[in-house]
Amino acid sequence: MKNRTLAIVKPDAVAKNAAGEIIARIQKAGFKILAMKMTRMSVPSARGFYEVHKERPFYDDLVAFMTSGPCVPLALEKENAVADYRKLIGATDPAEADAGTIRKDFAESKSKNAVHGSDSDENAALEIAHFFTRDELLANKG
Ligand code: RTP
Ligand code: MG
Repeated sequence: MKNRTLAIVKPDAVAKNAAGEIIARIQKAGFKILAMKMTRMSVPSARGFYEVHKERPFYDDLVAFMTSGPCVPLALEKENAVADYRKLIGATDPAEADAGTIRKDFAESKSKNAVHGSDSDENAALEIAHFFTRDELLANKG
C-alpha cells in the first residue's frame, strides 16, 4: 500500500544549491511529490516541529540551524515511503551513511545533514500537516 513521508531539504543543502540534485534523486527513487515549497522556518515552527527532541542536548542548535535559511519540505508518496526514504537518505551521521545515500554525498556533519525524513507513518502525517494544507496536498493527487 502506498503511504506518505515528509522530506526536508535542509538549509545547508539549499545554501549549497544542492536542492535540485537531491530532489532529482528522490524522484528517480520512485517517490511522487504530492506537495513542495521553499520556506524559511520561524523559531516557533522549528521548535514545534522538533518538540520530540526538546530534552536533547542538541535541540537549541538544531532549531538555530533549521531557521538559519530556507529549506524545502516535500510531501512524498510511495509504497513503503517512510522506510524506503530513510534508506535513500542513509544514517543521521554522514560518516556512518552507506555509499550512494543522499547524506553520504551531501551532508556536512551529523547536525548539518542535508535532509530530514519522517520516522513513522504517524509522524509523517503530523509532519506533512506541519507544512502543507489539505488543498496543497490535493493539488497533485492522481
Ligand atoms: P531527521 O529527523 O532530520 O530525519 O534525522 P534523524 O531521524 O536521522 O535524526 P534524529 O535523531 O531525529 O535527529 C534530528 C536531527 O537533529 C540533528 N542532530 N544533531 N549533534 C548531534 O548529535 C545531533 N544529533 C541529531 C540532526 O540534524 C538530525 O537530523
Ligand atoms: Mg528524526
